[in-house]
Amino acid sequence: MVSLNEQFLKLPESYLFSEIAGRVKAFKAAHPEAEVIRLGIGDVTKPLVPSVIKALRQAVEEMAESKTFRGYGPEQGYDFLRQTIIQKDFMPRGISLETDEVFISDGAKSDIGNITDMLSRENRIAVTDPVYPVYVDSNVMGGRAGELLENGQWSDIVYIPCTAENHFIPELPLVCPDVIYLCLPNNPTGMTLSKSELKKWVDYALENKILILFDAAYAAYIQEEDIPHSIYEIQGAKEVAIEFRSFSKTAGFTGLRCGYTVVPKALTIKMPHREQVSVNRLWNRRQCTKFNGTAYIVQRAAEAIYTEAGQKEIRGIIRYYMENARIIREGLKEAGFEIYGGVNAPYIWLKIPEGINSWAFFDRLLTECQVVGTPGIGFGPSGEGYFRLTAFADQTETRQAIQRIQEKAAGRF
Ligand code: MLT
Repeated sequence: MVSLNEQFLKLPESYLFSEIAGRVKAFKAAHPEAEVIRLGIGDVTKPLVPSVIKALRQAVEEMAESKTFRGYGPEQGYDFLRQTIIQKDFMPRGISLETDEVFISDGAKSDIGNITDMLSRENRIAVTDPVYPVYVDSNVMGGRAGELLENGQWSDIVYIPCTAENHFIPELPLVCPDVIYLCLPNNPTGMTLSKSELKKWVDYALENKILILFDAAYAAYIQEEDIPHSIYEIQGAKEVAIEFRSFSKTAGFTGLRCGYTVVPKALTIKMPHREQVSVNRLWNRRQCTKFNGTAYIVQRAAEAIYTEAGQKEIRGIIRYYMENARIIREGLKEAGFEIYGGVNAPYIWLKIPEGINSWAFFDRLLTECQVVGTPGIGFGPSGEGYFRLTAFADQTETRQAIQRIQEKAAGRF
């Protein structure tokens, strides 16, 4: 008789962003005339840039000719993209990588979830709190989370609270974990760490033999150049960290799907009764078994963002979204909200008024302003009392949303 992975049954009924989509759908069904503005899930709204479209078309043409047609590609990604990534994302920041340390995928979310395939169930996981829900949920599925407690924490996960009280800067945990997730610039708080703050984490990981899973999906949004864009800017990080990158927010690939993961060969783990095990080798083995590579046309499209024209085009779009971030930040500040983030990240994290929880605030914003955001509690217990808005909407709609909130704020919020 079939038996299921019962860990799945411990998960809340639906994933955070599916829950939000469900509530918005129900609201729209009940109020078809409502002009709902979505600042909830971090999904882009600007179309793909011309360089990407051109590369896609060209690659489609190649697939139409027997001479240039390509079947299965390398599971790790084509060298043309892996090498371009190294040259453009890492070398300018003083980081050298070998081609086979970069693995192309269909997006950071998949890799972040899949990476746990390599982790034994015994690992103690630490997350900053609030946090991108995929880190926790995928470890629940893998049986590393324990039980859900009344305070919203999982019994076996180490939570590192990041709130206004500590300026959203994670402190080294009292209980030493085996694996820690760091997301910088942070989703949802939008905060970043300076080089010296990040160095503390790398040194801690080196000293305690901890694996850092570093999510840099929002690196392209960093405006202050001296903030580390990659964890490998810190000495020793290659021995302890895996880094995830995404083209979703960098170049509007949320619908196209492409990202990459760096697994340095210097990252080895000592296992009982064994030599050091290469994590790069294991990940390669995992990918060859379970993944058949990202579509050729998509990898050509990703390559195109690194051309001079491509860079200019995507930077223009990032500026547009960051202008939205400024509109939200300043508009909500004027309305009396305490605002965080939105400077080096496309997310604005706001403190909600006393006496209302973040789901109630979500419902109120939806019903009274027809604006969708994301309740802080959805990102973890320390997210309660906060709310996230994204800068990815159309600019006119973003202004309208803020105006609606300002009008309400004058009365009730
Ligand atoms: C978010 O809204 O946090 C992200 O868009 C979700 C994702 O990237 O999967």
